[in-house]
Amino acid sequence: MPDPASEPRYAVLGQPVAHSLSPRIHQRFADALGVALRYEALDVAPEEFAARLESLHHQGLRGANVTLPLKERAARLCRELSPAARLSSAVNTLVRREDGWFGDNTDGVGLCCDLRDNLGVELAGKRVLLIGAGGAARGVVPALFEEGIAELVVANRTPERAAALAEDLSDCGPIQSCALASLAEIGRFGILLNATSASRHGEDLALPQSLPAPGAVAYDLSYGAAAEPFLAWAARTHATVVASDGLGMLVEQAAEAFQRWHGIRPDTAPVLRELRAG
Ligand code: ATR
Repeated sequence: MPDPASEPRYAVLGQPVAHSLSPRIHQRFADALGVALRYEALDVAPEEFAARLESLHHQGLRGANVTLPLKERAARLCRELSPAARLSSAVNTLVRREDGWFGDNTDGVGLCCDLRDNLGVELAGKRVLLIGAGGAARGVVPALFEEGIAELVVANRTPERAAALAEDLSDCGPIQSCALASLAEIGRFGILLNATSASRHGEDLALPQSLPAPGAVAYDLSYGAAAEPFLAWAARTHATVVASDGLGMLVEQAAEAFQRWHGIRPDTAPVLRELRAG
């Protein structure tokens, strides 16, 4: 048996983080590939993040996933950022290098992998609706354009935030912004992505029924109960053929992080099947 204290350390840092599935996912990947590691969920308050990361580094932390509410702070702490992390100003994966932390964002690639490989959804050439303009929304924009989407419409309750996102990420491709309240005038969409936190606050998005084009794909970046209201709305429109929560995105972004740390991309299908089974 390897001594757990001597195994390379990895962690997911956030607050709250106790219910994170990341330790389970990374352990499954590691077991399947025979990689020795110790992966923990560590609750870290935003104001103590910088000091905590430094001390974890001295205790042997080689990489970390970063979740709410630390993704933007993580981006500011890095010595170097990947293009996706730089464009979205958010980091979900930290890799320790000799001279400091390298920050990446695998959320967008994770979303695109889930859509393309697990759900069979073609993104190239599509007009995509992204609902929400917070960190979760920003994080996935670069990868959507990398997949070749034709146009992105970002709709947000606070329209100024959608406009800021469209401007900040305009190098990625054509982005139009609008207020959530005026979405009914913007036409129909083949792919609709919910990146808001409305359901986590028990609030309704009040989306118009006319939004999905026939055969549309509705996808919530959250998983479990948090995704249910959006997916129930999609079902009521009778237009969507694919409706999915973001559990697959979670597993795929983890596989991308695993690859950056260990140089090998694990097979995600068995882990996703196991999580879906409960
Ligand atoms: P995250 O990092 O999860 O994106 P965030 O930055 O707080 O968190 O962003 C939350 C997103 O959900 C925002 O787009 C927010 O809209 P506002 O910018 O107008 O706040 C959106 N959101 C939260 N509650 C909402 C609600 N009841 N209706 C519509 N949008 C909501």
